Amino acid sequence: MRILLIGASGTIGRRIYDDFSKKHEVVKAGRSGEDAAVDITSPASIEEMYKSVGNIDSVICAAGPAKFAQFGEMTEDDVYVGIHGKMMGQVNLVLIGQKYINDGGSFTLTTGILADDPIAGSAAVSLVNGGVNSFVIAAAHEVKRGIRVNVVCPTLVEDSIEAYGDWFAGFDPVPMSRVVNGYKRSVEGLITGRIIKIY
Ligand SMILES: NC(=O)c1ccc[n+]([C@@H]2O[C@H](COP(=O)([O-])OP(=O)(O)OC[C@H]3O[C@@H](n4cnc5c(N)ncnc54)[C@H](OP(=O)(O)O)[C@@H]3O)[C@@H](O)[C@H]2O)c1
Repeated sequence: MRILLIGASGTIGRRIYDDFSKKHEVVKAGRSGEDAAVDITSPASIEEMYKSVGNIDSVICAAGPAKFAQFGEMTEDDVYVGIHGKMMGQVNLVLIGQKYINDGGSFTLTTGILADDPIAGSAAVSLVNGGVNSFVIAAAHEVKRGIRVNVVCPTLVEDSIEAYGDWFAGFDPVPMSRVVNGYKRSVEGLITGRIIKIY
């Protein structure tokens, strides 16, 4: 399979790359442009990326800019970071990408446990996670040509314990192998319209 991986240099993305690249051709994308440059906050940039990479069987997005902010100080602009980034960025990867992806292809997006289980300061992130989860359930019914759409929704991942462990007090971090397996179930399996929770 030829797979386009957005966010390939990230904590989760690099684990996806290490595993999937043993079996598939993986095209790495991100703002720093390893194989392909893209800023998912820009629909024009997404369109340009799809035109430049061509022939894609599967799209995985492990990028999702969003902002944490204490609720009493949260501004509209704080919320829009996630709406333009993690939400519309991923929605546009599907809306625009449906014209470019091969027949029978798949889109796999990424949200997170904060859709169900918020932490302090997560309201804007929880909102966009929930929005993307609901989008996937609906989009899977309407997308054509045998294309599938799923979302992997992990809790705190083991590689992020140092960075975020204090924020997620009491959450059990999941091993990276379980997280990668969530993407495998989506890309290599038959499922569609699923929120693949890795809790
Ligand atoms: N880490 C966790 O414990 C955890 C748990 C649950 C859910 N998640 C979710 O999983 C996703 C990935 O998390 P992560 O921890 O792996 O993040 P990360 O380490 O910060 O990596 C983010 C990746 O996305 C790319 N990126 C950032 N902004 C972008 C943009 N506007 N356009 C294109 N690419 C962009 C970055 O590369 P460039 O900077 O080169 O663009 C990088 O490759 C996020 O949606 C996060 O909320 C993470």
